[in-house]
Amino acid sequence: MTITGRARLAGVMGWPVAHSLSPVLHGHWLETLGIDGAYVPLPVAPDDFAQVLAALPRMGFRGVNVTVPHKETALAAVDHADAPARRVGAVNTIVVGDDGRLTGTNTDGFGFLENLKDGAPGWTAAAGPAVVLGAGGAARAVVVALIDAGAPEVRLVNRTRARAERIAADLGGPVTVRDWDERAAALGGANLLVNTTTLGMTGKAPLTMDLAALPGDALVNDIVYAPLETDLLAAARARGNAAVDGLGMLLHQARPGFEAWFGQAPKVTAGLRDRVLARLGQD
Ligand code: ATR
Repeated sequence: MTITGRARLAGVMGWPVAHSLSPVLHGHWLETLGIDGAYVPLPVAPDDFAQVLAALPRMGFRGVNVTVPHKETALAAVDHADAPARRVGAVNTIVVGDDGRLTGTNTDGFGFLENLKDGAPGWTAAAGPAVVLGAGGAARAVVVALIDAGAPEVRLVNRTRARAERIAADLGGPVTVRDWDERAAALGGANLLVNTTTLGMTGKAPLTMDLAALPGDALVNDIVYAPLETDLLAAARARGNAAVDGLGMLLHQARPGFEAWFGQAPKVTAGLRDRVLARLGQD
């Protein structure tokens, strides 16, 4: 729809930002919900981040998403970071309060769990150990979400063991660390396997993973969404495991920000998925 002088404003700050899918998905919601609002890409260089962020409330913005490379910087730059953001160590969503103060949160864990709820309704985190491959920013959000959802054990497996140990030390609870070479054995008795590494992504090295030890009723999730059907998901389905792709995490993590800025709760629909997939196909 055409926006008016009263349009609500939000956007995504990144560097570069041209490949962000957020304008497409928020734009789809604005359009389908008929909201007088705009969600724009904001290319912001790292040196300018703090200044631009501080100016947003003065320009009437209701908030922004922040993406690479600003997520960790944003944690220190907001007036208040909530508990999920502090535990993950990164902010992906900022809301401008009525007083102009900035609150930062991290909705990646929410997006991760909502995606599993959607794609595998019968699965529950509390039913058994989870195996998480990777120890980057995405892994942190996934591990926090799994702990909060009641996973009895989270087995963290990373090529660089020290990064996994850091997460275990920071988050405590049921997190244990396994060596990358022992990733196949780590699957014994597991209820969930999640890949948070970049392996298997278009243009990256493949993920080699022997699934023989994975119980037949375990769920497999890849947070890679390009390609949508990764080799890991295909191998899981081939042996009868339920598998959920990574696109839903991206779509669901966007919901809390949209609702805070634009005042309506958006839905993740097949239409939205198709729209975002069509955009992905153009890159
Ligand atoms: P993000 O913050 O988006 O999760 P990241 O910090 O670059 O991204 O993390 C990428 C993850 O993929 C890491 O766990 C990385 O392992 P290291 O911590 O050892 O670097 C993992 N990864 C990338 N390439 C890999 C490879 N060839 N083999 C095994 N793991 C790999």
